[in-house]
Amino acid sequence: MIALIDRLPASVVGPDRVADAARRVMQRCEELAAVSAASDAIQRVYLSREHAEGNALAAGWMREIGMTTWQDAAGNQIGRLDAAGGTGVDREAPALVLGSHLDTVPDAGRYDGIVGVLMAIEIVRMLRVPLHDGGWASPFPFALEVVAFADEEGTRFGTALLGSSAVAGAWKDDWWALTDAEGTTLREAFHAFGLDPERIGEAERRPEQLVGYLEAHIEQGPELDHRGEALAVVSSIASARRFQFTMEGEARHAGGTPYSVRRDALLGASEAALTVERLCRAEHHVIGTVGQFEAFPGAVNIVPGEVRFSLDLRGELDAHRDEVWQRISAEIDAIAGQRGLRWQAREVHSASAVMCAPLLQDVVREGIRSTLPDGADDPAVIFSKAGHDGMALAAITGVGMMFLRNPDGTSHHPDELVGGDDVATGIRALAEAVLQLGGESRATLERIR
Ligand code: GLV
Ligand code: MN
Ligand code: MN
Repeated sequence: MIALIDRLPASVVGPDRVADAARRVMQRCEELAAVSAASDAIQRVYLSREHAEGNALAAGWMREIGMTTWQDAAGNQIGRLDAAGGTGVDREAPALVLGSHLDTVPDAGRYDGIVGVLMAIEIVRMLRVPLHDGGWASPFPFALEVVAFADEEGTRFGTALLGSSAVAGAWKDDWWALTDAEGTTLREAFHAFGLDPERIGEAERRPEQLVGYLEAHIEQGPELDHRGEALAVVSSIASARRFQFTMEGEARHAGGTPYSVRRDALLGASEAALTVERLCRAEHHVIGTVGQFEAFPGAVNIVPGEVRFSLDLRGELDAHRDEVWQRISAEIDAIAGQRGLRWQAREVHSASAVMCAPLLQDVVREGIRSTLPDGADDPAVIFSKAGHDGMALAAITGVGMMFLRNPDGTSHHPDELVGGDDVATGIRALAEAVLQLGGESRATLERIR
């Protein structure tokens, strides 16, 4: 089969253009890495000065290729190229959204999210068509949008996918009272960033405005590296729940308090963390992580009276994840009972597993195939253990994702890597996927919605 991309002139999408695009992506990843709250690490969280700076950089890159840009009511940065109509541009045409996120975890790598936003900009650069007035348009019957989502990680307020939830019309009123580590509420942070909480509904997009959502992202595990392959089709995104626990005992003198009367919250919480590991290790595709753990009052000579800790629980299937959660809770009940402790868990994030839309999986597969030699095996199909903005967007449109090999699988860490050659291969594959969608136009629109 001849890939659609091969029917286009090399001056538009040839290997030199693709290599150029990949170089720009890698270089811009470095530029964005310098936009950080820390001088010796990468950290860019929701509604921070760095968030605004990252958005401004991305907006400049979008405008440079003729896109109209705006920051939506939730702080997501958007660029749009309208569809080329018969006599001009069609501003009402639904949009194919390409993108990922620009926010990071603390002490982050350079590529998680970022590479997907920058690749999306390069796809638009390659496929856009010139207009008589010097402007540019999408060559398809649909508009092309690039979205840089503002809060996929949930680093600042503990609740992930805030940016994409606003776009999906799934914003929850009780989120306004969420606080960051300094006690700033989400509402206050909106004001400080120059956003109006009363207008959050304006970020919402309706299904009929969208053709679908396609995201390229580094794999955050080693599967592609083990297979020796550059790209994979993502079949689904794991479901996730996050909890903040409080384990309460009694703070007492570390020397004078006999073991028989101690109610040591840290030992109870430690047992709880080990229970999470034991129960999840015994399961297939349920993964639990205790990533935050803090003892109070936190003195060397006091038995800990309170421990606050987190749980991130993921599963390929919601029901399986929830069943494991029931078992974790029952065991923590028993641990607390034996140690005379009280515990509670506040759920701060919940997202269901999402199946990638079959049509979008197909075009991603065709895209990857176009990068492989004739007779090569079918591209890898991987289920994402990491969360992505598509989890929120699936409520309003079809979601498709492509993974890029991550040498050794390290992610959420400064050593996170992706190869420039794999980014080039990914750009070619993503361009082909978009062309495959455009080729089928109206029928495609109806099937994806
Ligand atoms: C985001 O990267 C997540 O899966 O936590
Ligand atoms: Mn991440
Ligand atoms: Mn990510």
